[in-house]
Amino acid sequence: MSEPSERKLAVDVRGVTRVYPGLVNALAGVDLTVEFGETVAITGPSGCGKSTLLHLLAAIDSPTTGSVTVAGQDLARLRDPSAYRRKEVGLVFQFHNLLPQLSALSNVEVPMFGTHASARQRKARARELLADFDLSGCEHRLPTELSGGERQRVAIARALANAPRILLADEPTGSLDSVSTTRFLELLDRLGGAGMTIVMVTHASDVAAHANRIIEMRDGTIVPSVPVSAAPIAYR
Ligand SMILES: Nc1ncnc2c1ncn2[C@@H]1O[C@H](COP(=O)(O)OP(=O)(O)OP(=O)(O)O)[C@@H](O)[C@H]1O
Ligand SMILES: [Mg+2]
Repeated sequence: MSEPSERKLAVDVRGVTRVYPGLVNALAGVDLTVEFGETVAITGPSGCGKSTLLHLLAAIDSPTTGSVTVAGQDLARLRDPSAYRRKEVGLVFQFHNLLPQLSALSNVEVPMFGTHASARQRKARARELLADFDLSGCEHRLPTELSGGERQRVAIARALANAPRILLADEPTGSLDSVSTTRFLELLDRLGGAGMTIVMVTHASDVAAHANRIIEMRDGTIVPSVPVSAAPIAYR
């Protein structure tokens, strides 16, 4: 496959809109670039389009207008979208989306199907990831037999299964307790330090504080950031 010669951005979103049936303008003109190695936190009120934007980056949804380019690939022209989803990005869904009929171990193995990993390698990697998230002993439980926080940790482990270059995480700490949140933040710092690009949606300011950049969304658009020098003077 030919690689563009210019330096590639991890994410290049241009003029993107997403109109859902019923004329819901979930995204109303979004431009966003993220460099490789950046950790970006997206914040904003409920319904402002955060999950919609992550779904476009993960190529599980397409924009109504505009273009989405990830790691130099125009997602509208992907030859093999499932290979893209398997290799380039790991997505932690807001509501986990674990496969209900599969054990925790098998859920983490799912993204590794279709790769060169043998069954033995898949299981070893899945066990290792579950152990990283304090889930040893839960391997054979179904999602319904796990707590909300445990499910969320399985979902994070699954997103990391193929060591993606880009991690997309939608409220990854939404149902984690403070101990698990701290561990997740340590992991985030470790992954960011190792060069992974991370785009996460979060309402939690302590989580957003671990990002290099915080992006605020409102009504389907990105609120322009105000340089500190241009910020209005606060009067008494
Ligand atoms: N499948 C759909 N069909 C129609 N409208 C939808 C659909 N999915 C989302 N929406 C609408 O699009 C808008 C943006 O939704 P989105 O899920 O992106 O918001 P969000 O910022 O992630 O919110 P939250 O913080 O509550 O998760 C909302 O008004 C929502 O109701
Ligand atoms: Mg959402």
